[in-house]
Amino acid sequence: MAVLKILTYPDPKLRRKSGPIEKIDGNVEKLLDDITETMYHAPGIGLAAPQVGLNLRVCVIDVSPRDENSEGLIELINPVIISAEGVQMEEEGCLSIPGFVSEVKRKAKVKVQALDRSGKPFEIEGTGLLARAFQHEIDHLDGMLFIDRLSRLKRELLIRKIEKVLGKEQSYAAF
Ligand code: NI
Repeated sequence: MAVLKILTYPDPKLRRKSGPIEKIDGNVEKLLDDITETMYHAPGIGLAAPQVGLNLRVCVIDVSPRDENSEGLIELINPVIISAEGVQMEEEGCLSIPGFVSEVKRKAKVKVQALDRSGKPFEIEGTGLLARAFQHEIDHLDGMLFIDRLSRLKRELLIRKIEKVLGKEQSYAAF
């Protein structure tokens, strides 16, 4: 296992849509182990592969530091939200946008289908913080960040602050 470097905004790898895992082999298992160790080391309650520079549909979640009823580590390969209901509005941050939080509107309850590390499909349901984590991490796999979920005004204000600290997103092609 290894602690990997977490990419931060505005790294373009955070903006790519990640591809599915076609075959679960030792590399995928190592990736799960590494992003888990990196998440705990940060510390954070979720981490997705694109945040360590690998555009693959793999993420891990463990909300137990913030929710004592949590079941602990959840590993997700090729996760898909298959149902969602209700609305919640809570503060949210991201390891790739360190130091910034904002209230983000999310579904209150979601059901996710994914593969486990043995390749077996499973379904898992989450409410509250866990539901939020599922949506946040799956967004990462689609190249989306929580700032994209804000109203235009809130987003523009926050991005201006983020860019002062973390740097500017390039609006032109660089070679
Ligand atoms: Ni994040």
